[in-house]
Amino acid sequence: MLILRLENAEGAATAYAKDALYRRWNTQHGGVYAPVTAATPPNPYLVDVPEREIRTPSGRLLTLLNHAYMIRQVYEMDGNGPEGHLVASRPLNPKNLPDAWENRALASFAAGKNESFAVMDTKERREFRLMRPLKLLRGCVPCHEAQGFKEGDIYGAMSIAVDMAPMKQTRGLVC
Ligand code: HEC
Repeated sequence: MLILRLENAEGAATAYAKDALYRRWNTQHGGVYAPVTAATPPNPYLVDVPEREIRTPSGRLLTLLNHAYMIRQVYEMDGNGPEGHLVASRPLNPKNLPDAWENRALASFAAGKNESFAVMDTKERREFRLMRPLKLLRGCVPCHEAQGFKEGDIYGAMSIAVDMAPMKQTRGLVC
């Protein structure tokens, strides 16, 4: 049982590290541009950002994808894999409001803890959840200062959930 838990923790930590890296890549560029399509409309939460839309010389319309938008689209491509999202108590996007467990984790981060994890059952699966706080870096501030936060503040957290079933199967084969 202990080994199983370690495997799940490892899977979640790996998913977390990858997610953090891709988010950093996106925010380092101040967002990235992609063609506007039915599945990729301009993000209404970036309406105040100059040049949210730009047109290429040949007339293609491109829109800015911020980190949260980009990663949400990535996870929507695979409903069975790991799932990750951002949460904050006072989010720009109400979709990023925390659930009850995430709310408790956010409160513990405000009190100085820097990680929270749990095994939880959803309707579809048993999952291992991992959450760590996010501090606002200088590059984050222009998009988030309207909510009253400054550089160095804990703004919210990244929350990851991995399905425990595939890990149980691997463990079964090893035995
Ligand atoms: C280009 C603008 C932009 C930058 C730069 C940016 N963000 Fe965001 N971020 C957004 C937008 C817009 C949302 C909400 C809309 C959404 O979900 O797409 C968001 C959402 C979030 C959320 C979820 C809560 C919410 O407000 O909805 C967190 C947490 C967050 N960002 C943290 C950060 C951190 C930490 C950085 C820097 C490492 C950062 N952001 C950089 C635009 C940005």
